[in-house]
Amino acid sequence: MLNGEKILFSAMQSTGKLTLGNYVGALKNWGKLTEEYRCFYSVADLHSITVRQDPAALRKNARDVLMTYIASGLDPKKNCIYYQSHVSAHAELAWMLDCFTYMGELNRMTQFKDKSAKHADNINAGLFTYPVLMAADILLYQADVVPVGNDQLQHLELARDIALRFNHVYGDVFTVPEPYLGKHGARIKSLQDPTQKMSKSDENPNGCIYILDDHDTIMRKCKRAITDSGSEVLYSDDKPGIKNLIDIYTSMTGKTPEEVEKEFEGKGYGEFKTAVGEAVCSELDPVRQEYERLSKDKAYVDALIKENAETARYYAEKTLRKVRKKIGFPEIVR
Ligand code: TRP
Repeated sequence: MLNGEKILFSAMQSTGKLTLGNYVGALKNWGKLTEEYRCFYSVADLHSITVRQDPAALRKNARDVLMTYIASGLDPKKNCIYYQSHVSAHAELAWMLDCFTYMGELNRMTQFKDKSAKHADNINAGLFTYPVLMAADILLYQADVVPVGNDQLQHLELARDIALRFNHVYGDVFTVPEPYLGKHGARIKSLQDPTQKMSKSDENPNGCIYILDDHDTIMRKCKRAITDSGSEVLYSDDKPGIKNLIDIYTSMTGKTPEEVEKEFEGKGYGEFKTAVGEAVCSELDPVRQEYERLSKDKAYVDALIKENAETARYYAEKTLRKVRKKIGFPEIVR
């Protein structure tokens, strides 16, 4: 709790361009949480280097993610928006928590298993301890709630276990975080393979709408989306392609699937896909325009980055001081 408000923490990796999936599943809702929680949103650039990154690309991606947060409606005066790498307490606490985490626990993480299968040539220790860094992110800010997708629930569960274990030894140090159970956006799937989630690491760029794609690109990707046999716009598990497009359309318009089925009764897939493209554009065009405006205002963005990192550091250091003392490290003489 901070001044009577519950604390919320979340983050996204800066490993590539953010997608419509990130927007619908997270960003679009994050903006609304500001009213109810004290929110910290980090750009998880430390997490990104578990996979080899080109330095210039990492720097650009991280800044793009940060500006996309703001462009999507996160007010940087009301939310603390910062780079994880700007607050060294994350890495420091992660080390300490490593010593409170068991190999067996990390071995069970399904994302570790998936990622090591995918990057068999670079199964580094960071990939293995990744969930501990994530726990450090969350526990540093004493977060009460963490909005996460299903794929991160296991990591959040581990963060809770680590917090409880630490508290058991040293008394009440960490708030034990809960998953945020409020309204979540739909899980958007790839436009080219609706059995897979729309992911920024997708190899097929046509499967993904990127938040910063221009108008024509969005329209083209929607029109080329894989659809199913038949010709009716129906919300059914037998039609994963159309179902996904309906999910996108409802996320953009606030309509229900039934209303969408009605709206497109007797109309073909082509007409529906055009409507989906237009709905996505009407939501993302302003986001891209705001991103472009921010890109041109370097001084303004730099000042926000500085200010927000200071805020993040203030709260992170506060927790870290407490942890250092509890563990028994010698006091720093200043
Ligand atoms: N690992 C998360 C992801 O890939 C990103 C992340 C890093 C995160 N630290 C976090 C999410 C802390 C929630 C809380 O999506």
